[in-house]
Amino acid sequence: MNNLKVKTTFFCTNCGAESPKWIGKCSSCGEWNTYTEEVVEKKSQTQEKEKIWKSAKSEKIIPKKLDEVGTLNTSRINTRDNELNRVLGGGLVQGSIILVGGQPGIGKSTLLLQMALQISTRVLYVSGEESEEQIKMRANRIGNQNKECFVYTDINVHNILKEAVKLEPNVIIIDSIQTLVSPYIDSTPGSISQVKECTGDLQRFAKETNIPVFIIGHINKEGGIAGPKLLEHIVDVVLQFEGDQHYAYRILRTLKNRFGSTDEIGIYAMDVHGLKEISNPSELLISPDDDQLSGSAIAASVEGLRPLLIETQALVSPSIYGTPQRSATGFDLRRLSMLLAVLEKRCGLPFGQNDVFLNIAGGIKVTDPSIDLAVVAALISSLHDIHISKKVCFAGEVGLSGEIRPVSRVEQRIQEAARLGFELIFISGYKSEILSKKNFNIEVKMLSRIDDLLRDVFA
Ligand code: TYD
Ligand code: MG
Repeated sequence: MNNLKVKTTFFCTNCGAESPKWIGKCSSCGEWNTYTEEVVEKKSQTQEKEKIWKSAKSEKIIPKKLDEVGTLNTSRINTRDNELNRVLGGGLVQGSIILVGGQPGIGKSTLLLQMALQISTRVLYVSGEESEEQIKMRANRIGNQNKECFVYTDINVHNILKEAVKLEPNVIIIDSIQTLVSPYIDSTPGSISQVKECTGDLQRFAKETNIPVFIIGHINKEGGIAGPKLLEHIVDVVLQFEGDQHYAYRILRTLKNRFGSTDEIGIYAMDVHGLKEISNPSELLISPDDDQLSGSAIAASVEGLRPLLIETQALVSPSIYGTPQRSATGFDLRRLSMLLAVLEKRCGLPFGQNDVFLNIAGGIKVTDPSIDLAVVAALISSLHDIHISKKVCFAGEVGLSGEIRPVSRVEQRIQEAARLGFELIFISGYKSEILSKKNFNIEVKMLSRIDDLLRDVFA
């Protein structure tokens, strides 16, 4: 009788909190309507949950003096992928657990299979999504051959860990966490209780065997990693792979890193032979200045720790409908509205009667506020149909009263612009006396208000 009774619990899909009954508002993260019911009936008691791998240290854990605790063996494995090494903080830490998130089709499987084929150590690539033949096809496209790369297609986390114990790989890749199931839980793969349980097993395995584990995770509509936020708390490193599927560029961002900084990014381009590392992204993101068209301006932005020159393109045209349209790709729409309001109010420019479209070239998403000045320049350039030379670039944040505010790492931006052959850079004039004394290989002009931009660039 007892066996027929199905035990269910409600989980918050946002933060993973549990509740015995359905509630409208999650008491832990405050989100509404996020609770779903899941079957959690454990098939056996916890004591039956026998050890599926031989624990390296089976001794009892007791409180220790911090002085007596040895330091972590952080010798890092070189992944042979410079961009990946960089975002991991200088290589792969032994025993770490790394979550790689991203939209479907962005290239997560390609990135990690490519690493598995480049690295010179034994790797176990577990796929619950593709067959062995499909993985082989992908590997053939990528090319490099690591003789010690093993593939395994199973979704039972216990079988996977048993095989891992036998094979003794130095790196494990799980593609993806949403396909794994633990036999102790009855709910479907991808449900919160499964994702939680499987990640927990993988984490214990990684910590006890010191084998690093990469976990691929899908991203939900809102851009979060599908499954509870809790996943992000369990793992050591969270990497996000982003970009526009229709463009070749991909950015690998660190959202969390227990062993390094979160400022680093890796840049790749997807081609027919997999992902290529891009060490000089600026050169690829700027189109040549042959046509002398209006509506385009170049921003000297910084992504992570790297200076990156990006082209911003605007189209301003009289609106035929009552309400003017605003659209932005790669840039925050609310920020665009704010910049338009500033231009209208402080400079009297008639954007209110125009449709405005803004695009960041290369399908890149920019969050650096220093791009404001280039956006404003591109908007005015399109409105007045005046071309801005491609030898000129901009770095400044625009404030609500039309002031141009300083941005971080100005020197680095100026140097990168000079290195790429730019002749003039506009920056904020605020507190930049030190900069004006320095000698750069490029002309540096200071602006304090948007009016100065109108005077200096569009006069
Ligand atoms: P994939 O790694 O399957 O994405 P994810 O695991 O994030 O869902 O990559 C999907 C896309 O990458 C696919 O549409 C084809 C493209 N691709 C290439 O352009 N070149 C290649 O060499 C490979 C392997 C994939
Ligand atoms: Mg995939």
